[in-house]
Amino acid sequence: MAGGAGGGARGWLGVALVSLQLCSVTLALEVSVGKAAVIYVKNGTDVLLPCTFTSCIGIERANFSWISNSTEIFKGIIKNKDSKPEPYPEYRSLIKYEMPTDMALSKDNREFNVSLLLLFAEFSDSGKYTCFVKNPKEKNANHSATITLKVVVEMEKKDNTLTLIIVSVVGGVIGLLVLIMLIKKLVLFILKKTREKECLVTSSANDNTENGLAGSKTEQKSAPKA
Ligand SMILES: *[C@@H]1O[C@H](CO)[C@@H](O)[C@H](O)[C@H]1NC(C)=O
Ligand SMILES: *[C@@H]1O[C@H](CO)[C@@H](O)[C@H](O)[C@H]1NC(C)=O
Ligand SMILES: *[C@@H]1O[C@H](CO)[C@@H](O)[C@H](O)[C@H]1NC(C)=O
Ligand SMILES: *[C@@H]1O[C@H](CO)[C@@H](O)[C@H](O)[C@H]1NC(C)=O
Ligand SMILES: *[C@@H]1O[C@H](CO)[C@@H](O)[C@H](O)[C@H]1NC(C)=O
Repeated sequence: MAGGAGGGARGWLGVALVSLQLCSVTLALEVSVGKAAVIYVKNGTDVLLPCTFTSCIGIERANFSWISNSTEIFKGIIKNKDSKPEPYPEYRSLIKYEMPTDMALSKDNREFNVSLLLLFAEFSDSGKYTCFVKNPKEKNANHSATITLKVVVEMEKKDNTLTLIIVSVVGGVIGLLVLIMLIKKLVLFILKKTREKECLVTSSANDNTENGLAGSKTEQKSAPKA
Protein backbone atom coordinates (compact mmCIF):
# COMPACT_ATOMS: atom_id res chain seq x y z
CA MET A 1 0.00 0.00 0.00
CA ALA A 2 2.80 2.42 1.00
CA GLY A 3 4.71 1.38 -2.12
CA GLY A 4 1.69 2.19 -4.27
CA ALA A 5 1.43 5.63 -2.72
CA GLY A 6 5.14 6.18 -3.33
CA GLY A 7 4.72 5.15 -6.96
CA GLY A 8 1.84 7.60 -7.29
CA ALA A 9 3.96 10.39 -5.88
CA ARG A 10 6.82 9.46 -8.22
CA GLY A 11 4.33 9.43 -11.09
CA TRP A 12 3.18 12.93 -10.27
CA LEU A 13 6.76 14.12 -9.96
CA GLY A 14 7.41 12.59 -13.39
CA VAL A 15 4.44 14.41 -14.87
CA ALA A 16 5.56 17.68 -13.29
CA LEU A 17 9.11 17.23 -14.65
CA VAL A 18 7.87 16.32 -18.13
CA SER A 19 5.58 19.35 -18.24
CA LEU A 20 8.45 21.54 -17.03
CA GLN A 21 10.61 20.17 -19.83
CA LEU A 22 7.82 20.71 -22.38
CA CYS A 23 7.46 24.23 -21.08
CA SER A 24 11.09 25.11 -21.62
CA VAL A 25 11.07 23.54 -25.08
CA THR A 26 7.96 25.42 -26.21
CA LEU A 27 9.22 28.63 -24.65
CA ALA A 28 12.35 28.39 -26.74
CA LEU A 29 10.59 28.35 -30.10
CA GLU A 30 6.85 28.35 -30.35
CA VAL A 31 4.97 28.40 -33.64
CA SER A 32 1.29 29.27 -33.69
CA VAL A 33 -1.44 29.64 -36.26
CA GLY A 34 -3.76 31.33 -33.80
CA LYS A 35 -6.94 30.17 -32.15
CA ALA A 36 -9.01 29.03 -35.12
CA ALA A 37 -8.18 25.52 -36.30
CA VAL A 38 -10.14 25.98 -39.51
CA ILE A 39 -10.24 29.06 -41.68
CA TYR A 40 -13.04 29.61 -44.16
CA VAL A 41 -12.69 31.68 -47.29
CA LYS A 42 -15.07 32.53 -50.09
CA ASN A 43 -14.10 31.17 -53.48
CA GLY A 44 -12.25 33.80 -55.51
CA THR A 45 -11.11 35.94 -52.58
CA ASP A 46 -7.77 36.33 -50.79
CA VAL A 47 -7.10 34.79 -47.40
CA LEU A 48 -4.39 35.17 -44.79
CA LEU A 49 -2.93 31.92 -43.50
CA PRO A 50 -1.87 33.07 -40.05
CA CYS A 51 1.40 31.99 -38.47
CA THR A 52 3.57 33.59 -35.85
CA PHE A 53 6.49 32.32 -33.84
CA THR A 54 8.06 33.45 -30.62
CA SER A 55 11.60 32.99 -29.47
CA CYS A 56 12.91 34.13 -26.10
CA ILE A 57 16.59 34.05 -27.00
CA GLY A 58 16.19 36.01 -30.21
CA ILE A 59 16.59 35.07 -33.85
CA GLU A 60 19.37 34.99 -36.40
CA ARG A 61 18.54 34.08 -39.99
CA ALA A 62 15.44 32.20 -38.94
CA ASN A 63 13.93 30.56 -41.96
CA PHE A 64 10.38 29.51 -42.44
CA SER A 65 8.45 27.50 -44.97
CA TRP A 66 4.85 26.73 -45.75
CA ILE A 67 3.98 23.21 -46.74
CA SER A 68 0.72 21.98 -48.17
CA ASN A 69 -0.10 18.67 -49.75
CA SER A 70 3.52 17.58 -49.11
CA THR A 71 4.77 20.42 -51.31
CA GLU A 72 6.82 23.41 -50.22
CA ILE A 73 4.65 26.26 -51.43
CA PHE A 74 6.60 29.11 -49.86
CA LYS A 75 9.96 29.71 -48.26
CA GLY A 76 11.45 32.76 -46.65
CA ILE A 77 13.81 34.15 -44.07
CA ILE A 78 13.88 36.73 -41.29
CA LYS A 79 17.49 37.84 -41.21
CA ASN A 80 17.39 39.40 -37.76
CA LYS A 81 15.02 40.91 -35.23
CA ASP A 82 14.88 44.21 -37.12
CA SER A 83 13.93 42.81 -40.50
CA LYS A 84 10.68 41.76 -42.08
CA PRO A 85 10.23 38.29 -43.48
CA GLU A 86 11.57 38.06 -47.04
CA PRO A 87 10.76 35.36 -49.51
CA TYR A 88 13.59 33.32 -50.99
CA PRO A 89 14.32 34.58 -54.55
CA GLU A 90 12.47 31.71 -56.24
CA TYR A 91 9.32 32.52 -54.22
CA ARG A 92 9.32 36.25 -54.89
CA SER A 93 6.79 36.48 -57.68
CA LEU A 94 4.36 33.65 -57.25
CA ILE A 95 0.86 34.03 -58.62
CA LYS A 96 -0.72 32.15 -55.77
CA TYR A 97 1.10 33.20 -52.59
CA GLU A 98 2.83 36.28 -51.24
CA MET A 99 3.95 37.85 -47.98
CA PRO A 100 1.37 40.47 -46.95
CA THR A 101 2.72 43.84 -48.05
CA ASP A 102 1.59 45.56 -44.86
CA MET A 103 3.51 43.17 -42.60
CA ALA A 104 4.71 45.03 -39.49
CA LEU A 105 8.08 44.65 -37.81
CA SER A 106 8.15 42.67 -34.59
CA LYS A 107 7.13 45.02 -31.82
CA ASP A 108 8.69 43.19 -28.91
CA ASN A 109 11.50 41.41 -30.80
CA ARG A 110 10.03 38.18 -29.51
CA GLU A 111 7.03 37.48 -31.71
CA PHE A 112 7.51 37.28 -35.46
CA ASN A 113 4.79 37.17 -38.07
CA VAL A 114 5.27 34.86 -41.03
CA SER A 115 1.64 34.73 -42.18
CA LEU A 116 1.12 33.94 -45.83
CA LEU A 117 -1.40 35.52 -48.16
CA LEU A 118 -3.18 33.10 -50.49
CA LEU A 119 -4.59 34.94 -53.52
CA PHE A 120 -7.83 34.09 -55.30
CA ALA A 121 -8.68 30.98 -53.31
CA GLU A 122 -10.05 28.14 -55.40
CA PHE A 123 -11.90 25.09 -54.16
CA SER A 124 -8.82 22.98 -54.84
CA ASP A 125 -6.91 25.12 -52.30
CA SER A 126 -8.89 23.55 -49.45
CA GLY A 127 -6.63 21.50 -47.23
CA LYS A 128 -3.98 21.63 -44.55
CA TYR A 129 -1.24 24.25 -44.46
CA THR A 130 1.76 23.79 -42.21
CA CYS A 131 4.07 26.58 -41.22
CA PHE A 132 7.62 25.46 -40.35
CA VAL A 133 10.08 27.68 -38.55
CA LYS A 134 13.73 26.95 -37.98
CA ASN A 135 15.92 29.14 -35.80
CA PRO A 136 19.64 28.35 -36.21
CA LYS A 137 20.27 30.25 -32.97
CA GLU A 138 18.41 27.49 -31.17
CA LYS A 139 20.39 24.48 -32.32
CA ASN A 140 18.35 24.49 -35.53
CA ALA A 141 15.24 23.54 -33.59
CA ASN A 142 12.35 23.47 -36.03
CA HIS A 143 8.75 23.73 -35.03
CA SER A 144 5.54 23.81 -36.92
CA ALA A 145 1.83 24.54 -36.69
CA THR A 146 -0.93 23.50 -39.02
CA ILE A 147 -4.12 25.17 -40.11
CA THR A 148 -6.95 23.85 -42.26
CA LEU A 149 -8.36 25.99 -45.04
CA LYS A 150 -11.85 25.47 -46.40
CA VAL A 151 -12.87 27.27 -49.55
CA VAL A 152 -16.63 27.76 -49.66
CA VAL A 153 -19.16 29.14 -52.15
CA GLU A 154 -20.54 31.59 -49.62
CA MET A 155 -19.38 32.46 -46.15
CA GLU A 156 -22.05 30.82 -44.05
CA LYS A 157 -23.62 32.57 -41.15
CA LYS A 158 -23.34 29.23 -39.42
CA ASP A 159 -20.73 30.45 -36.97
CA ASN A 160 -22.93 33.41 -36.05
CA THR A 161 -25.93 31.14 -35.65
CA LEU A 162 -23.90 28.83 -33.47
CA THR A 163 -22.76 31.76 -31.32
CA LEU A 164 -26.35 32.95 -31.13
CA ILE A 165 -27.52 29.48 -30.12
CA ILE A 166 -24.80 29.22 -27.48
CA VAL A 167 -25.58 32.70 -26.19
CA SER A 168 -29.32 31.97 -26.01
CA VAL A 169 -28.77 28.57 -24.40
CA VAL A 170 -26.40 30.04 -21.81
CA GLY A 171 -28.77 32.98 -21.34
CA GLY A 172 -31.70 30.59 -21.04
CA VAL A 173 -29.91 28.41 -18.51
CA ILE A 174 -28.94 31.44 -16.43
CA GLY A 175 -32.51 32.75 -16.69
CA LEU A 176 -33.84 29.36 -15.65
CA LEU A 177 -31.46 29.22 -12.69
CA VAL A 178 -32.56 32.69 -11.60
CA LEU A 179 -36.20 31.63 -12.01
CA ILE A 180 -35.60 28.44 -10.00
CA MET A 181 -33.91 30.48 -7.28
CA LEU A 182 -36.81 32.93 -7.25
CA ILE A 183 -39.35 30.09 -7.11
CA LYS A 184 -37.34 28.43 -4.34
CA LYS A 185 -37.32 31.71 -2.40
CA LEU A 186 -41.04 32.14 -2.98
CA VAL A 187 -41.82 28.56 -1.93
CA LEU A 188 -39.64 28.92 1.16
CA PHE A 189 -41.37 32.20 1.94
CA ILE A 190 -44.82 30.63 1.55
CA LEU A 191 -43.76 27.60 3.58
CA LYS A 192 -42.46 29.90 6.28
CA LYS A 193 -45.68 31.88 6.28
CA THR A 194 -47.78 28.68 6.32
CA ARG A 195 -45.70 27.29 9.15
CA GLU A 196 -46.11 30.53 11.06
CA LYS A 197 -49.85 30.23 10.49
CA GLU A 198 -49.78 26.55 11.48
CA CYS A 199 -47.92 27.55 14.60
CA LEU A 200 -50.60 30.11 15.34
CA VAL A 201 -53.30 27.53 14.68
CA THR A 202 -51.54 24.97 16.83
CA SER A 203 -51.05 27.39 19.65
CA SER A 204 -54.64 28.53 19.42
CA ALA A 205 -55.70 24.88 19.41
CA ASN A 206 -53.57 24.37 22.46
CA ASP A 207 -55.18 27.37 23.92
CA ASN A 208 -58.53 25.79 23.17
CA THR A 209 -57.47 22.57 24.84
CA GLU A 210 -56.37 24.48 27.84
CA ASN A 211 -59.67 26.22 27.83
CA GLY A 212 -61.36 22.85 27.66
CA LEU A 213 -62.87 23.60 24.28
CA ALA A 214 -60.99 20.82 22.47
CA GLY A 215 -63.63 18.29 23.25
CA SER A 216 -66.43 20.37 21.83
CA LYS A 217 -64.37 21.02 18.72
CA THR A 218 -63.87 17.29 18.14
CA GLU A 219 -67.54 16.72 18.59
CA GLN A 220 -68.28 19.45 16.11
CA LYS A 221 -65.90 17.90 13.62
CA SER A 222 -67.18 14.38 13.88
CA ALA A 223 -70.78 15.46 13.98
CA PRO A 224 -71.22 15.83 10.18
CA LYS A 225 -69.69 12.37 9.62
CA ALA A 226 -72.19 10.60 11.77
C1 LIG B 1 -15.45 30.49 -57.89
O1 LIG B 1 -14.73 31.66 -58.19
C2 LIG B 1 -14.33 31.77 -59.55
C3 LIG B 1 -13.46 33.00 -59.67
O2 LIG B 1 -14.03 34.10 -59.02
C4 LIG B 1 -15.56 31.83 -60.43
O3 LIG B 1 -15.18 31.88 -61.78
C5 LIG B 1 -16.39 30.59 -60.18
O4 LIG B 1 -17.61 30.69 -60.91
C6 LIG B 1 -16.70 30.46 -58.70
N1 LIG B 1 -17.41 29.20 -58.50
C7 LIG B 1 -18.45 29.10 -57.66
C8 LIG B 1 -19.08 27.75 -57.58
O5 LIG B 1 -18.86 30.04 -57.00
C1 LIG C 1 16.13 26.57 -43.50
O1 LIG C 1 17.23 26.62 -44.40
C2 LIG C 1 17.97 25.42 -44.45
C3 LIG C 1 19.15 25.67 -45.32
O2 LIG C 1 18.78 26.36 -46.47
C4 LIG C 1 17.10 24.28 -44.94
O3 LIG C 1 17.82 23.09 -44.94
C5 LIG C 1 15.89 24.15 -44.05
O4 LIG C 1 15.02 23.20 -44.55
C6 LIG C 1 15.19 25.46 -43.93
N1 LIG C 1 14.14 25.32 -42.93
C7 LIG C 1 12.93 25.77 -43.10
C8 LIG C 1 11.99 25.59 -41.95
O5 LIG C 1 12.60 26.33 -44.13
C1 LIG D 1 -1.74 17.22 -54.06
O1 LIG D 1 -0.60 16.85 -54.81
C2 LIG D 1 -0.85 15.85 -55.78
C3 LIG D 1 0.48 15.47 -56.42
O2 LIG D 1 1.36 16.56 -56.45
C4 LIG D 1 -1.85 16.38 -56.79
O3 LIG D 1 -2.14 15.39 -57.76
C5 LIG D 1 -3.14 16.78 -56.07
O4 LIG D 1 -4.04 17.36 -57.00
C6 LIG D 1 -2.82 17.78 -54.98
N1 LIG D 1 -4.03 18.04 -54.23
C7 LIG D 1 -4.40 19.25 -53.86
C8 LIG D 1 -5.64 19.33 -53.07
O5 LIG D 1 -3.75 20.26 -54.13
C1 LIG E 1 0.49 39.29 -39.31
O1 LIG E 1 0.55 40.20 -40.42
C2 LIG E 1 -0.66 40.31 -41.13
C3 LIG E 1 -0.42 41.24 -42.31
O2 LIG E 1 0.05 42.47 -41.91
C4 LIG E 1 -1.76 40.84 -40.21
O3 LIG E 1 -2.98 40.91 -40.90
C5 LIG E 1 -1.89 39.90 -39.02
O4 LIG E 1 -2.84 40.42 -38.11
C6 LIG E 1 -0.55 39.72 -38.33
N1 LIG E 1 -0.70 38.75 -37.27
C7 LIG E 1 -0.39 38.98 -36.00
C8 LIG E 1 -0.63 37.88 -35.04
O5 LIG E 1 0.08 40.05 -35.65
C1 LIG F 1 12.34 19.39 -38.68
O1 LIG F 1 13.06 18.46 -37.91
C2 LIG F 1 12.75 17.13 -38.15
C3 LIG F 1 13.59 16.28 -37.24
O2 LIG F 1 13.68 16.85 -35.98
C4 LIG F 1 12.99 16.79 -39.62
O3 LIG F 1 12.58 15.47 -39.87
C5 LIG F 1 12.20 17.74 -40.51
O4 LIG F 1 12.51 17.48 -41.86
C6 LIG F 1 12.53 19.17 -40.19
N1 LIG F 1 11.69 20.00 -40.98
C7 LIG F 1 12.12 21.08 -41.60
C8 LIG F 1 11.12 21.83 -42.41
O5 LIG F 1 13.26 21.50 -41.50
